[in-house]
Amino acid sequence: MNLISQEIQSMSGEVYCPGDKSISQRILIIGSFLNCDMEIDGFLDSEDPNSTLKALNEIGASIKKEQNKVFLNKRNIPFQEPSNDLDLGNSGTGARLILGLIAGLALKSTIVGDSSLSNRPMLRVIKPLMEMGANIESSNGTLPIKTFDSRISNNFKYDMPIASAQVKSCLLLAALASKNNIKIIEPKITRDHTERMIDHFGGDISFGKKENTGEVELKLNILSPKSTYSVPGDFSSAAFIIVAALISHKSKVLIKNVGLNKTRCGLIEILKLMGANIDIQNQKTVSNELVGDVIVKSSNLVGINVPENIIPNIIDEIPILSIAAAFADGTTKISNAAELRVKESDRLNAISDGLSKLNIRHQIFNDGIEIIGTKEKIDSDDMINSFDDHRIAMSFLIAGIRSKNGISVMNCKNIETSFPNFMNIMNSLGMKIDEKT
Ligand code: S3P
Repeated sequence: MNLISQEIQSMSGEVYCPGDKSISQRILIIGSFLNCDMEIDGFLDSEDPNSTLKALNEIGASIKKEQNKVFLNKRNIPFQEPSNDLDLGNSGTGARLILGLIAGLALKSTIVGDSSLSNRPMLRVIKPLMEMGANIESSNGTLPIKTFDSRISNNFKYDMPIASAQVKSCLLLAALASKNNIKIIEPKITRDHTERMIDHFGGDISFGKKENTGEVELKLNILSPKSTYSVPGDFSSAAFIIVAALISHKSKVLIKNVGLNKTRCGLIEILKLMGANIDIQNQKTVSNELVGDVIVKSSNLVGINVPENIIPNIIDEIPILSIAAAFADGTTKISNAAELRVKESDRLNAISDGLSKLNIRHQIFNDGIEIIGTKEKIDSDDMINSFDDHRIAMSFLIAGIRSKNGISVMNCKNIETSFPNFMNIMNSLGMKIDEKT
């Protein structure tokens, strides 16, 4: 499916932010592990959480979706060996977190995914899991991965070589499911939803005590079930709405119920440094996560050097930050972001490819990109390649706001993995996105 996004003048209105993808997946996994009756609201009903849901049901969980809610049901047999392959589709989070759970439960299984996921690096989780005692086979460090009976050791200590919440969460789940202690040191603090959720259910976990490096310690745990859980809105989805409002003229948009976890919403800090007019209201804590309403007004942005320490906390927002940078006054430099090369696509390459088609001056490096903003309207005879990556597709559709003749983006189907109502929500605020026939 190809989409076209036309120039618009202004955006206005209020919307509810779609549910958080990372948290939706985690509550399915941890909730199923708790083996209790639980009602989940705010769940993101999109392809990634749904493939995690299906994989969990394959190993004996009892999860049902009804209208806008998800119900976890207590069952007699906690978990079982799946009779089918566990297909995690496009979801790196699903594959890596389920692998941790399965290794901890010592289940025999085969984990597979789509062609993009099958090319993503899995050694980052396989290696520490095997050091912990997991019995795993994979031919070249990618999917498919086979798991066998494992014996996870107690008091495993792991110094993570890369800052990755998926690696951290995979190991925490392996320890949790095998009822062992673990200590993890991360080079930079990454999203802490798994830690917060374990804490929310009464687990003995310490985290977030050091300023720059992360140290997480989980002790042998008995978690206490709760009957409800509320998933906050996904800041990573809100980010597209925020940048759209900023780069259009005379706009004012209110996004309600946005997850504002500090380890996730670094983009607000960066955009404010660039001169963005963003306000937060009604902050409260729901299910141990900070949420609030975000008000954004059109702003004249300026280019900045993005501080390297914040990269893990804006990692999914760099494609849309690049679009903000493309319309900022001056140069924006993003470095220390080599992880972008192993996301759903090589995102540095995908951003550069799209910017080149729009004649936006930029320079790509091994670990980042420097972008020189323009005040001109953008134009392209070529379609932008989304590289089958949801965040690349959505980012370049937002860029269409400042176009002369509309911007067309190829293969936008993947938007369904994280933001199923993207086109309707953006159009309800004044954007003009349509299918390109
Ligand atoms: C995620 C962690 C990040 C992020 C991904 C979701 C998670 O990946 O890019 O979209 O839910 O834990 P890494 O852990 O690989 O950085």
